[in-house]
Amino acid sequence: MSAAELEATAKAMVENGKGILAIDESTPTIGKRFDTINLESTEENRRAYRDLLITNPGGKEYISGMILFDETIRQSTSDGTPFAKALIDQGIMPGIKVDTGAKEFALHPNEKITEGLDGLRDRLAEYKTLGAKFAKWRAVITIGDNIPSQACIDANAHALARYAGLCQEAGIVPMVEPEVLMDADNTIELCYEVTEKTLSALFSALKSQDISIEHTILKINMVISGKQCSTQADVQEVADQTVRCLVKNVPAELPGIVFLSGGQSEELATAHLNAMNANNPELPWPLSFSYGRALQAPCIKAWEGKAENVEAAQKALLHRSKCNSLACKGEYSSDMENAS
Ligand code: 13P
Repeated sequence: MSAAELEATAKAMVENGKGILAIDESTPTIGKRFDTINLESTEENRRAYRDLLITNPGGKEYISGMILFDETIRQSTSDGTPFAKALIDQGIMPGIKVDTGAKEFALHPNEKITEGLDGLRDRLAEYKTLGAKFAKWRAVITIGDNIPSQACIDANAHALARYAGLCQEAGIVPMVEPEVLMDADNTIELCYEVTEKTLSALFSALKSQDISIEHTILKINMVISGKQCSTQADVQEVADQTVRCLVKNVPAELPGIVFLSGGQSEELATAHLNAMNANNPELPWPLSFSYGRALQAPCIKAWEGKAENVEAAQKALLHRSKCNSLACKGEYSSDMENAS
């Protein structure tokens, strides 16, 4: 793939108020999601669920790409069309999660380093033949007593840059995702500080490994209060602090930034994105979404693992997709939540 094609893919991922649907849960994680509806995590149940997400009528209006898991990119719709082809036929780009998970970081208790570089060149070549246009690698940064360490931030940034280089070599757009977790009791100020350090280490690693920023998408957490913090920053503050942190630390030539939802409620994740876009029409990059839970939660609940609920589940997903698409343009209002 030429540089022009990489650029076109990166742009298309975030254009026209569209965003990315993350459906790349690993087998243990999708198992946890199925537990909430008392559904066994068999290969066929996982396939049936991903089938309804992928074939959702109307989804392409709001969704530019979907991130698949290794098992999913090898599966097919109930009529036998490979999932990647089913996406491409609708004009939705298939993406693939290529890291192999966040593991204990040696000598650093309670911190994680993401693995998956060994053999990645060959895996990317195969994913390319299976239709992948972009790939995702998630690094996890944990806030706690005396953590994150600079060592953890730097090691993860280095791995993200190595992955990004292999992706660009293969003609696949890297979506670099360092996630500062929101599960602790930290203030929004501390989240800002850690997110800033993380972004600074990331872009310096990308630069030192000659990664083309113009062909990279950033997926990042919002700057937000930890879930256990007694003072929760409101929507305006989350939007302001997130945008301030990005403007200060992200190069203008990056083609786009997408957010993960990280455990926020569906409606808050949408309201935060909307406030950022409504108040900042002149940013150098589009701000969009790449949510997993904040798009899928109402859908999986409506589905309950039953064929007769597929239509209701797809409608629930479409509604959240539409709300977030409007939030990309600053045109969402919470009144829309009661309208459907
Ligand atoms: P959440 O939106 O559920 O955080 O998932 C997004 C994702 O892809 C995390 O890697």
